[in-house]
Amino acid sequence: MKVTVVGAGNVGATCANVIAHNDFAKEVILLDIKDGVAEGKALDIWETSPINYFSTKTIGVTNDYSRTADSDVVVITSGLPRKPGMSRDDLISTNAGIVKSVTQNVLEHSPDTILVIVSNPLDVMTYCAYLTAQIDPKRVFGMAGILDTARYRAFLADAIDCSPKDIQAVLMGGHGDTMVPLPRYTTVSGIPVTELIDEAKLDAIVDRTKSGGGEIVNLLGTSAWYAPGAAAAQMVETMVKDERRIFPCCAWLQGEYGLSDLYLGVPVKLGRNGIEEIIQLQLNDSEMAMLNQSAEHVREVMGILDKMELVS
Ligand code: LAC
Repeated sequence: MKVTVVGAGNVGATCANVIAHNDFAKEVILLDIKDGVAEGKALDIWETSPINYFSTKTIGVTNDYSRTADSDVVVITSGLPRKPGMSRDDLISTNAGIVKSVTQNVLEHSPDTILVIVSNPLDVMTYCAYLTAQIDPKRVFGMAGILDTARYRAFLADAIDCSPKDIQAVLMGGHGDTMVPLPRYTTVSGIPVTELIDEAKLDAIVDRTKSGGGEIVNLLGTSAWYAPGAAAAQMVETMVKDERRIFPCCAWLQGEYGLSDLYLGVPVKLGRNGIEEIIQLQLNDSEMAMLNQSAEHVREVMGILDKMELVS
């Protein structure tokens, strides 16, 4: 299996590193527009192969999309990251043009590929790639839910003083402050989380999760990369192995949850064909209200993209 990661910045390089390290693909192509950056990072990753013990060949290229030909999965991380004081939505005018042209270049050489979008603002950049690609939305979707859920699970592990391995959770909605963590669908080794933590602590963790990306931006002056890169790599791994794992991903909705014609985070089953199934949970009224509010916010940002008349 051949995987391409477009964008050799922090997120893209981390994603390629995790994919290589986990040793499930034949090769990973890392592509960037900046001369030598992808080549240098791919070579550095390849030089870890004898230490980390993998065979996945890592190859860096500068803007040469012919080297990405016939990729099974392409991860698009291109675009600017946020700076302190910026919301993800502030990036739309720059990143939409980048995501459009990357999507066109990728599909020219890999028409049957699956596209995983990581660029921000995530839900709307996934929509931008979908409008550009004009392919089955089961093959165009975004990475956000695994990252946001991972933050939620990590914070819970700290609070409960247990291993994050044992925390299972679902989180829905857009990749922004309106995201919807779902305590009712959160368990610790099968135990409802509410039996292990009091409501006030849980509420505080939900709030911290919603601004988890911003917390890192404030610390680093730029956005996170270890968790976003690893999250995208996990999506690639489950598809390449056709594991049919269930993760929250940013998917095109056509009536699910009563919502249509937008990309939003929902639980999906991932397999060799991309999104094999959208899982429909029985949300209660307040969960549904939060999901609708998140959808409204995503639609507002979609409206900005539509007004740009960049893609249609
Ligand atoms: C974050 C960015 C990558 O949540 O959206 O860290």
